[in-house]
Amino acid sequence: MRGVIVFALILVFGISSLFAAVKEETVAGKCMTCHKEKSMGLYNQWFQSKHAAHKVTCLDCHQANKSESDAYEHEGAYIATLVTPKDCGKCHEKEAAEVQASYHATAGEILDSKDAYLAHVAGGEPVAVTGCQNCHGGVVEIDPNSPNKLSLKSFPNSGIGRINPDGSKGACTACHTRHSFSAAQARQPEACSKCHLGPDHPQK
Ligand code: HEC
Ligand code: HEC
Ligand code: HEC
Ligand code: HEC
Ligand code: HEC
Ligand code: HEC
Repeated sequence: MRGVIVFALILVFGISSLFAAVKEETVAGKCMTCHKEKSMGLYNQWFQSKHAAHKVTCLDCHQANKSESDAYEHEGAYIATLVTPKDCGKCHEKEAAEVQASYHATAGEILDSKDAYLAHVAGGEPVAVTGCQNCHGGVVEIDPNSPNKLSLKSFPNSGIGRINPDGSKGACTACHTRHSFSAAQARQPEACSKCHLGPDHPQK
């Protein structure tokens, strides 16, 4: 019983100290209070992550300049649903540079290969999208008429060589699932074998 009370106290204190640093009535605070209710799973993953522990808020990742092609107005802020390696690189410069320079970042270029042509001709667009771009990535298209500015034809996409509207390549979420963004999770073989799975890609 005492354990439960201590746990509850820690929890309450933990939450209030987070909100003490990020005032609830600020724009950044409102993102969390509302989404805690509207998207509980997502909120909890974030809340238990290193990011929440270091007071990295929703807005720190999702905030966008009005002039960015994927920016839209949402609850008093300009945000983008897309969070690219360039956005993560504001804080993780080293990792973003490593990803950008990796062979993985070129994986979207197979879209111009004869293999991809074969997939388009033999299977059509749906095969190319679900059958290749899921793993390799593709060009993320902007649709000005979509509420989140992203075309349904090319998003969601967490392909490893995704080509982003801001020019950066790849998606950190290919290995670090959202919204935990955990190093331990990315270290598991499963983080790789969802793409490196054989039989025509036999590494697993
Ligand atoms: C008053 C409630 C409320 C507030 C405040 C709020 N949101 Fe939302 N947000 C929503 C709802 C509802 C949705 C739609 C959820 C869904 O996809 O069904 C949404 C959707 C989103 C999406 C995804 C849109 C998409 O492409 O599917 C993102 C990203 C987002 N919010 C981030 C934020 C950020 C960052 C803030 C702080 C600036 C914020 N939200 C503030 C309610 C809110
Ligand atoms: C560390 C950066 C980061 C933080 C912090 C973050 N997000 Fe996200 N969020 C992402 C990424 C990355 C995606 C996937 C979009 C993409 O593929 O680029 C995403 C996607 C979303 C989506 C679209 C639904 C989905 O899961 O694809 C919503 C809604 C959203 N975030 C809301 C929030 C809210 C609310 C918070 C704060 C509680 C938050 N995010 C904090 C990086 C972040
Ligand atoms: C979302 C899919 C995806 C995930 C997840 C993924 N890979 Fe890959 N990987 C690829 C693709 C696609 C290629 C081929 C790249 C190309 O065509 O440019 C590749 C290529 C590689 C290569 C070959 C590089 C070279 O120089 O020849 C290595 C090594 C590799 N991946 C290791 C990993 C490891 C380790 C992980 C997990 C930590 C991982 N990959 C996770 C899709 C993925
Ligand atoms: C399940 C995930 C997955 C799917 C789906 C997938 N690939 Fe791959 N692909 C990979 C991985 C992983 C590699 C890296 C293999 C290696 O380096 O040996 C790769 C490598 C390749 C390569 C060699 C690239 C290079 O530079 O070495 C080509 C070409 C290719 N894929 C084309 C395609 C096409 C076209 C499709 C759709 C018909 C497709 N792939 C579907 C995961 C996938
Ligand atoms: C191919 C899979 C893969 C991709 C893509 C990837 N990561 Fe990682 N990341 C990992 C793995 C695996 C680890 C754990 C390394 C270890 O064992 O310490 C990690 C660790 C990290 C760490 C913890 C620091 C450390 O050295 O332990 C940070 C921060 C990070 N990644 C950020 C990013 C960012 C930002 C991106 C996108 C620009 C990204 N990662 C893309 C696989 C990936
Ligand atoms: C506003 C700054 C900021 C942004 C933006 C940001 N991060 Fe982080 N990230 C941090 C801090 C602070 C930590 C905790 C200290 C550390 O490990 O460096 C962290 C830790 C991490 C870790 C290690 C977690 C662990 O389990 O040890 C990963 C992985 C990571 N971030 C991925 C990402 C990805 C992917 C994005 C973009 C979608 C992103 N971060 C965006 C600040 C940021």
